[in-house]
Amino acid sequence: MNDPNTPPASGCPLHGHHAKRWDLVDAAELLKSATAADVSLEQAGREAWRNAVRCIGRLHWKSLEVIDARQLAMADEIFEAACEHLKRATGDGRITPMMTVMPPWRGAENEIRIWNHQLVRYAAHESADGSILGDPMNLELTRVALALGWRPPASPTRFDLLPLIIQCGGALRFYELPKHLVREVEIRHPRYEWFGELGLKWYAVPAISDMIFATGAEFYPCAPFNGWYMGTEIGARDLGDVGRYNQLPVIAEKLGLDTRQTRNLWRDHALVELNEAVLWSFQQEGVRLVDHHQASREFIEFCESEQRAGREAQAEWPWIVPPISASATPVFHRGYPLQPEFPNYLLQASPWQTARGRELLQKHRR
Ligand code: ARG
Repeated sequence: MNDPNTPPASGCPLHGHHAKRWDLVDAAELLKSATAADVSLEQAGREAWRNAVRCIGRLHWKSLEVIDARQLAMADEIFEAACEHLKRATGDGRITPMMTVMPPWRGAENEIRIWNHQLVRYAAHESADGSILGDPMNLELTRVALALGWRPPASPTRFDLLPLIIQCGGALRFYELPKHLVREVEIRHPRYEWFGELGLKWYAVPAISDMIFATGAEFYPCAPFNGWYMGTEIGARDLGDVGRYNQLPVIAEKLGLDTRQTRNLWRDHALVELNEAVLWSFQQEGVRLVDHHQASREFIEFCESEQRAGREAQAEWPWIVPPISASATPVFHRGYPLQPEFPNYLLQASPWQTARGRELLQKHRR
């Protein structure tokens, strides 16, 4: 195991640092490293996906479509490119893995960032009693949006789209996403009529918008990218986690299970029904997503094809192993080396936690 506190004596500066949230302002060691091979933007993007140690879907890395948007300069243009990305990635539901690369890092003054974690996010409405309506994960982002002058819908729901918050040099603005660009799927169950009445839904395209696309020579703090969903991301985590939509107690109740004990495995039963519902609903509506059994098989296939290419797939076990039925998938029963290389995707410090992000927010507060 790498000790995350000791930088490696030699080799890629990412070793031991893959879980760090980088702020490019003080990432001198990264910016100096410049060990990138001379490949096209498209190839670098695909290799970044191939090297993404937390992604189980990497068998498909060669299919990433890379949009070169490096010439854009204005916040309005960044917003338009993000909209175009969503539209093309969604398509008719078949979902195209895609990355749109905005201008590279050229110092704090010219920083371009999307403050949202994903292009599509649901608001967290705080009520006076401290309870939250919506996705608690987006509480801080919702607060930022409100501070910038965003007004939530007159009758708030659990699934209200947050605006895109775009920083472009000294500008910080919010943009309402056109509803018709956001494909959503209502969650129903193949056998339980009541399931649809829970009123759950989720969006079709997971487009991460707050990571750094790092070729090694260049760093792109604004390069939204997407694949398609694996069912458990929604069914086991987004809708299931206690700190998210927390739906297991509701579903167990409907299933007639006693939620005062643990040994009847009411949480587990509820999880399976919820995950089956997610998979079935997306399939019914022709929106691509993969189940965790197939994704696990494909990941093993990816490891094998990497070996044939003379490389060894690097991976972070706790992220690769699915959150339900782990031991019933082949990815559980082995280990993985963890020496990430460029090109890659890096976590980025939350903008509202950096000094200049706070300053910008203060300046644009309404
Ligand atoms: N887990 C995140 C979510 O539930 C999405 C992360 C990216 N997922 C993907 N399949 N590309 O929204």
